Amino acid sequence: MKPTVAILGAGALGEILAGGLLRAGWQLEELSLAVRREERCVELTERLGVACHLDPVAAVAGKRVVVVVVKPKDVPALLDQLKGALEGHQIVLSLAAGVPTTVFEKELGQVPVVRAMPNTPALVSEAVTAYAPGRYVTEESLKEAASVMEAVGKTVQLDENLMDAVTAVSGTGPAYLYLLAEALTDAAIREGLPRHAAQLLVDQTLKGTGALLAETELSPIKLRAQVTSPGGTTAAAVHVLEEAGFRAAVEDAVRAAAQRSREMGEAASEDDS
Ligand SMILES: NC(=O)c1ccc[n+]([C@@H]2O[C@H](COP(=O)([O-])OP(=O)(O)OC[C@H]3O[C@@H](n4cnc5c(N)ncnc54)[C@H](OP(=O)(O)O)[C@@H]3O)[C@@H](O)[C@H]2O)c1
Repeated sequence: MKPTVAILGAGALGEILAGGLLRAGWQLEELSLAVRREERCVELTERLGVACHLDPVAAVAGKRVVVVVVKPKDVPALLDQLKGALEGHQIVLSLAAGVPTTVFEKELGQVPVVRAMPNTPALVSEAVTAYAPGRYVTEESLKEAASVMEAVGKTVQLDENLMDAVTAVSGTGPAYLYLLAEALTDAAIREGLPRHAAQLLVDQTLKGTGALLAETELSPIKLRAQVTSPGGTTAAAVHVLEEAGFRAAVEDAVRAAAQRSREMGEAASEDDS
């Protein structure tokens, strides 16, 4: 069963989510959007056909799942607007990075709040979203909130204290792979390949490898062993990457992103106290 959905903050991610829900079979009248600027509302209604409101309270009326997709810094102002407007049956699904469920519970009372971190492959319905229940969430409300994110990809339930790690791995993850794609394409061009061919080779290699990782039961170690013969080209390349500290650099990058996510979350909680 598809829950009705209000998307508060139909910016980049909010619009991607609305598009994904429509592709997954949600009907126009099962959705509503809210933004602050009238021109953005007009643009969204023209593009998606979904009702758009400048007042978030109007957008949430009659909707089961209320998705919060405003920037973390705009969450307090939105919660001020929403105070007293939610009914007992409504579930808040927050995608705002780093904002704890307690911030919502403090402002809105004993409402079910689910915190989730998706990523931008949602645009092609290939996101991965980790979600964590707040204090007042029931099994049923958790399932309904998860079903919204399943419309744009895969989901996994975790404890809220792991959300900073999720942000650093899959939330930020596309940027790591874009950087790899950029570096690999440049290297291919330096080896003499024409740009269009270099891009196709790199993009499809990433896509195909991702599909193998996701669809086979094999670990990355086993899959890598399959393409590495002793003294061969892959062994030579991997040796250079290991010597250059590739693995340590990835670990440091993830640690830095998780730390930044924690700092941003602490700032969001302090703003609210
Ligand atoms: N982009 C990502 O990859 C990604 C991934 C995971 C999570 N997130 C989270 O998603 C959230 C949104 O990110 P984004 O990149 O989509 O930001 P964005 O493009 O700036 O969109 C934010 C939207 O929120 C609207 N808004 C702000 N305050 C509002 C209010 N009080 N009532 C109604 N609408 C309001 C803005 O309306 P106007 O346009 O009218 O100003 C804007 O459309 C962030 O919290 C971010 O942490 C993003």
